[in-house]
Amino acid sequence: MARSYRIAVVAGDGTGPEVIREGLKVLTAVSDLTGFDAELISYPLGGEYYLKSGEALPDSILEELKTVSAIYLGAIGHPDVKPGILEQGILLKIRFALDQYINLRPVKLFPGVWTPLKDKTPEQIDFVVVRENTEGLYAGIGGNFKKGTPEEVAVQMDVNTRKGVERCVRFAYELTKNRSAKKKLTLCAKTNVLTYAHDLWVRVFEAVGREYPQVTQDYAHVDALVMWMVRSPEFFDVVVTNNMFGDIVTDLGAMIQGGLGIAAGGNLNPQGVSMFEPIGGSAPKYAGKNVINPLAAILALGMLLDHLGEKGAALRVEEAVKSVTATKLKSLAAGKMGYSTSEVGDLVVEALKTTEAV
Ligand code: IPM
Ligand code: MN
Repeated sequence: MARSYRIAVVAGDGTGPEVIREGLKVLTAVSDLTGFDAELISYPLGGEYYLKSGEALPDSILEELKTVSAIYLGAIGHPDVKPGILEQGILLKIRFALDQYINLRPVKLFPGVWTPLKDKTPEQIDFVVVRENTEGLYAGIGGNFKKGTPEEVAVQMDVNTRKGVERCVRFAYELTKNRSAKKKLTLCAKTNVLTYAHDLWVRVFEAVGREYPQVTQDYAHVDALVMWMVRSPEFFDVVVTNNMFGDIVTDLGAMIQGGLGIAAGGNLNPQGVSMFEPIGGSAPKYAGKNVINPLAAILALGMLLDHLGEKGAALRVEEAVKSVTATKLKSLAAGKMGYSTSEVGDLVVEALKTTEAV
C-alpha cells in the first residue's frame, strides 16, 4: 500500500495563500515522483476568519489538528486585527496546545544567493538553531500592578522547567550527533546575568552531554553569539537556546542566509503533530500581487516531508530549490526575482524532475 499522509493546510493571511499554493504544487509533483499520497485538509483560519467569527481558533479545529500527520502553515497577521491577537490566538496556541516544544530553524546559504556577509560562501553559512518553543518568556505568566499609574509594575516571568530544558537539549544533541562532520553543539544563553535560569540550562547541557561523547560542547553568551554569527558563521553547527533568544537570533539567521524569502522553520513535537512554516510574516503590502518569494514555503514543505520520513522527497525538494537559486533567480526579494511567485513554483517543479532519486 502507498504511504499516505493527512496534511492540514492553514494558508492564513496576506501572502500566505500565494506561497502555500506554490508549496502544494511542489507537493503534488514530488509525491508523484516518489510515490506517496497526501490528503489535504484546508482550514480557513486567519484575520478574515477572526473578523467574521470573533474567534481566532475554535476548539473544534484545534481538536482536528491534533489528528493529522502534519500542519502546513502560510502566514498569520492581518492589518485590521490588533497585533498579537492572531499571533497568540493561532500560532502560539497551536505551538502550546500541540506541545511543539522544538522550533527548528536551519540557517543555510543556498548557491547563487546574495548574503550581506562579505565573502561568505554556502560552505560557511550552514547551521541549525534549535529553539525551545513552549516556555521561557512566551509562557504568558505575569501581570500588572497599579496599571496606568506612575507606580505601575509589570512582571513577565521567564519560565524554565527541568523537563522543558532537558527535552530541548536532548533533541539538539541527537540532531548534532547525526547532522554533520563537525558535531559541535553550542549552548546560547546568558549565564553571567540570568544566574538561576541559565544555570539550569548549563547543568542540563553538561549532564545530557555526558551521553553524547561524540559531540563537542560549546557555549556562547547570546550577545557574543550574534557577533560571531556575523563575523564567523562557519563556527556553528547546531545552536540550542531558549524561546526568546531563539526568536531573535533566527531573524538574524534569516538575514545572513539571504532574507525571509528563503527562511523556513518547523515547530516540532517529535511524539505528536508538528507544524511547518516560512518564518517571514504575512507581508500585506505584497499580498495578491504574485511577487512574493515562495521558496521559504517550499523549503518548509521539504522540512515537513523530512519529518514525515519522506527523506528522498525532502532531499529532492531541497536540491530543486538549490538549482533554482543557483541558475535562475536574480534576487530573493519580493518583486525582484526576475519571475513571479507562480513562475518560481513552476521552476522548482521543473527542477524536481531532473533531481536524482535517492
Ligand atoms: C516567530 C514569530 C512569532 C514568535 C510571533 C509571530 C509570535 O516571530 O515565529 O518567530 O515570536 O515566535
Ligand atoms: Mn520571530
